Amino acid sequence: MATLKTKILGINFENPFLLASAPPTALIESIDMAFEMGWGGAVLKTITPDDLEMNEASPRYAVLKDKRNIIGLQNIELLSHKTIKYWCDGIKFLKQKHPTKVIIASIMAPVNKTAWQDIVKTLNNTPADAFELNFSCPHGMPEKGIGMAIGTDREISATITKWVKEVAQKPVFVKLSPNVSDITEIALAVENAKADGLAAINTVQGFMGLDLKTLRPILDVNGKTTFGGCSGTMVRPIGLRCVAQIRQASSLPILGQGGISTWEDAVQYIAVGSDAVQICTEVMLNGYKIIGPMLKGLQNYLEEKSFANISALKNKAIEVLTAHKDLQKTTLAYPQINHEKCGRCGKCVTICMESEHQALQLNDGNIVVDKERCVGCGLCRFVCPAGAITPRQ
Ligand SMILES: Cc1cc2nc3c(=O)[nH]c(=O)nc-3n(C[C@H](O)[C@H](O)[C@H](O)COP(=O)(O)O)c2cc1C
Repeated sequence: MATLKTKILGINFENPFLLASAPPTALIESIDMAFEMGWGGAVLKTITPDDLEMNEASPRYAVLKDKRNIIGLQNIELLSHKTIKYWCDGIKFLKQKHPTKVIIASIMAPVNKTAWQDIVKTLNNTPADAFELNFSCPHGMPEKGIGMAIGTDREISATITKWVKEVAQKPVFVKLSPNVSDITEIALAVENAKADGLAAINTVQGFMGLDLKTLRPILDVNGKTTFGGCSGTMVRPIGLRCVAQIRQASSLPILGQGGISTWEDAVQYIAVGSDAVQICTEVMLNGYKIIGPMLKGLQNYLEEKSFANISALKNKAIEVLTAHKDLQKTTLAYPQINHEKCGRCGKCVTICMESEHQALQLNDGNIVVDKERCVGCGLCRFVCPAGAITPRQ
């Protein structure tokens, strides 16, 4: 029988699913409800010094949809508006009621040693299990030198990590920004500064676009907008890439996140190096109840694949990632056409004709592959509405 229980930095996790620091962890009573429903832990909405001024804009969200579904969110929300006392009392209440749940206090402060150390010292006196340093919010608040302004700078990231480690009495995770050209540089800088673990990714900076009728922004704050943080399904490939890159460079524990909406997504993150996962946008769109199918799905998967636990799955796929120069280049994945399934719509012929290779033709009612011209790029397979094309090596 596989177990979802896991241990990271000496902290026992009932299961590897944590709520990420965000609106679903902004209120103690909501976190209480989420714990009742099965979440393994929560990273609290980022706590800041009480005197840090924060003014929110309205509205603060916009979504990206494919034809039917929401595939991502852009937000311009700032940090927790609750006081440090609210969080200290709340953490005590939650731990008393749910002693087996993991609580991670996310924190952010201006670039000032006293400000960071004061907040850590206060939260040291709570039963929170760990800290997460939010160095990575893209919009909150670079003009004050915080958020992503920290996480895109190696030296500032390392300096603040050292300040925190000098006084922290709990393990310290650093939450990294994907909005850098090389996330491993920052990961290694904070590792050298003695961070105990890493969390990745925070939101990806983006711009949701315009309403074409009015040419006003979709995230319209009185006619203006700003670059915000994108999250949800649309950022998953970026999150997976970042986690895999960090894992290739570092052996610190990683709390993987970015676009996880199903247990299958969680498996992907664990297989490329995450020790546990965090989820925000999917909860904002569908509620805490998503945890039920996630727990069941992951448990079944571990059992089917004979993985005894999360550690057995962790890193299992990291070696599939290599440099382009090291990929095998001697065989071509020619398209194999299933003529029974093929609807003769000609879509594959058109895209092949117009995307360089001109290797597919409709001859006597059948799609024919010209192997002299085909480079095995694989595009035809994805545009076929009938699923009639598979690659053959
Ligand atoms: C509305 C919103 C508010 C967020 N607030 C915070 C925050 O206060 N602190 C933080 O570290 N991350 C914050 N995040 C980032 C999430 O914790 C998470 O890293 C990111 O959304 C990617 O995960 P997802 O795709 O599951 O949403 C926020 C995200 C959203 C959408």
